[in-house]
Amino acid sequence: MMDYRRTVLTVSDVIKQYKQYDCVVTAVDRATFSIYEGEFVAIIGASGSGKSTLLHICAGLDKPNSGKISVRGTDITSLSSNDLAQFRGKHMGMIFQNHNLIPQFTALENILVPALMTDKHEIAYEETLKKLVETLDIGDRLHHLPSELSGGQQQRVAIARALINMPLIIFADEPTGNLDRANADEVLELLLKTQKLMGQTLIMVTHDISIAAKADRIFKMDNGKLSPESKASLK
Ligand SMILES: Nc1ncnc2c1ncn2[C@@H]1O[C@H](COP(=O)(O)OP(=O)(O)O)[C@@H](O)[C@H]1O
Ligand SMILES: [Mg+2]
Repeated sequence: MMDYRRTVLTVSDVIKQYKQYDCVVTAVDRATFSIYEGEFVAIIGASGSGKSTLLHICAGLDKPNSGKISVRGTDITSLSSNDLAQFRGKHMGMIFQNHNLIPQFTALENILVPALMTDKHEIAYEETLKKLVETLDIGDRLHHLPSELSGGQQQRVAIARALINMPLIIFADEPTGNLDRANADEVLELLLKTQKLMGQTLIMVTHDISIAAKADRIFKMDNGKLSPESKASLK
């Protein structure tokens, strides 16, 4: 049967090795997969299995030793660092475990950083901002500094920042890892709601099986090797 889904990300034969003293660690060992538009994909696996390394390479934050990463037909491994920075700003959003907000900036200023850094001047951000603020329920926190927000609120601001440019793909590395159960569930619900509302693709590293169970597809990382994982095997 023909597959009519649109591919947004194609990863082919990606290898990433690190030198540790006199050993070579293969953090990502020939990863090959495709992600489709609008999908929510979870990557699970033990600590040290290479999840963050793979995610960072896909997001253009790190370079592989070999292999190719193509985002909507653009091979990001062949871009100059300037072009890659522009490309990332326009098409990719990143959410980290530690929100990585700029402490001297208010919530609103933090959210607008990616918008100011890309040359999408023709685009009006007001509407996207309004939608994000409403969905993530941060309207009354916009003029506060990160230190004046709770952990859950900080992470909601980080989500708004990752989404303000309406990226094609959102990459999230254990986005709820630092939150307690109730806050993690709430932030995750808001992230999924926002992702669906905006029609974006979400690739999330998580060690939380109950989060992975909500994904459209699951991959498992084991010692640098990535393979599809069935939902049934999670239980
Ligand atoms: N910057 C680095 N330098 C050397 N080794 C690294 C570096 N980053 C990750 N590694 C190694 O690569 C492997 C995978 O790490 P990582 O991608 O962080 O795993 P995970 O996110 O699944 O916990 C580990 O063995 C780790 O020690
Ligand atoms: Mg990690």
